[in-house]
Amino acid sequence: MMAELSYNAPKEVKDLEIFNTIELEDFARLVMPKGGFDYLAGGSGDEFTLRRNVEAFNFKGILPRVAANVEFPDTQTKIFEHELKVPFIMAPIAAHGLAHQSKEAGTARGIHEFGGSLMSISAYSGASFQEISAGLKDTPRWFQIYMSKDDELNKHILDEAKADGASAIILTADATISGNRDRDDKNHFVYPFGMPIVSRYLTGSGKNMSLNNIYAQSKQKISLEDIGFIKEHSELPVFLKGVQTPEDALAGLGAGADGIWVSNHGGRQLDGAPASFEVLEEIALAVAGRVPIVFDSGIRRGEHIFKALASGADIVAIGRPALFGLALGGWKGVRSVFEYFEKDLKRVMQLAGTQTIEDIKHTRLKDLK
Ligand SMILES: Cc1cc2nc3c(=O)[nH]c(=O)nc-3n(C[C@H](O)[C@H](O)[C@H](O)COP(=O)(O)O)c2cc1C
Repeated sequence: MMAELSYNAPKEVKDLEIFNTIELEDFARLVMPKGGFDYLAGGSGDEFTLRRNVEAFNFKGILPRVAANVEFPDTQTKIFEHELKVPFIMAPIAAHGLAHQSKEAGTARGIHEFGGSLMSISAYSGASFQEISAGLKDTPRWFQIYMSKDDELNKHILDEAKADGASAIILTADATISGNRDRDDKNHFVYPFGMPIVSRYLTGSGKNMSLNNIYAQSKQKISLEDIGFIKEHSELPVFLKGVQTPEDALAGLGAGADGIWVSNHGGRQLDGAPASFEVLEEIALAVAGRVPIVFDSGIRRGEHIFKALASGADIVAIGRPALFGLALGGWKGVRSVFEYFEKDLKRVMQLAGTQTIEDIKHTRLKDLK
């Protein structure tokens, strides 16, 4: 058994000098307990999809426009009623307390201090809505639900999320059980703290429970009807997250989804699936601008954000890099990661000859061998 009972998460708070977010993983490995690091960095199976998520960006090239009269590129955009400073937000991620003692409150504060972005709060957060809110303050938030098998409990959870100020609900549909996570199995990984938001439907608090056990107590039979249920009860826009095919995007729209979230869960669920980026364009063509598209899985550089937007995403979500930043520098580390992506995206926009996010969306990418 791993000694998770005395899990010792990092607690340093400092600004990070970031050259790229890929090497943040190596630095985070040095400061995080092995069980927590493997849970965060790892994927499922032989991690083919995890690797492919980042590699796939290399099969499309950005065709730069020159003499394009560009200076100080403008990264502002809008999604629903939210005016964002940048076209990226925080992805829903469970158990930030593995990365830092400040848990989700630290991430929330980092996003708040960065300003002009948005946080997705995972149902499997290790902090309560109140604790996260203390860091987020007036920063907008979306709530990601892992449903209970009991719809009455789902109603309570949605009510709490709404009372906390969630302006949209994300229904994650690609994780009805856990992916085949070798690293966690070998580490006998269990969460070293509870999950206050879903503890009302777990047999315990979540503490000392494995991911397999927690998923098993959540709902497996997610269907399109759940979109309607969540919409009706919460009266909030609903994203369907984990979409990998045009068929499912269209089915989601037909069931009333207000947004499509293209993702393969960072290669943590079905190994052997293509990279999320490889399926984005065909999904965007099917959705045809009717609802916003959020994209995640593999975003590590400004070029990746650019390519996702040029392939039909409206905004992208940052996953692991933000958590590595949290591990290395607490809330300041998260802010550093967001600042890095803003700076890097602006550099790419200038070099590609794009003044605005709209310009990126009209940029042509070239297939590369
Ligand atoms: C440690 C970890 C925990 C995650 N927990 C959740 C979760 O609770 N709910 C969810 O919808 N997605 C979850 N995800 C998936 C992310 O929302 C996102 O799809 C993924 O991180 C994107 O891949 P990337 O981090 O490699 O860019 C998790 C991802 C990681 C790395």
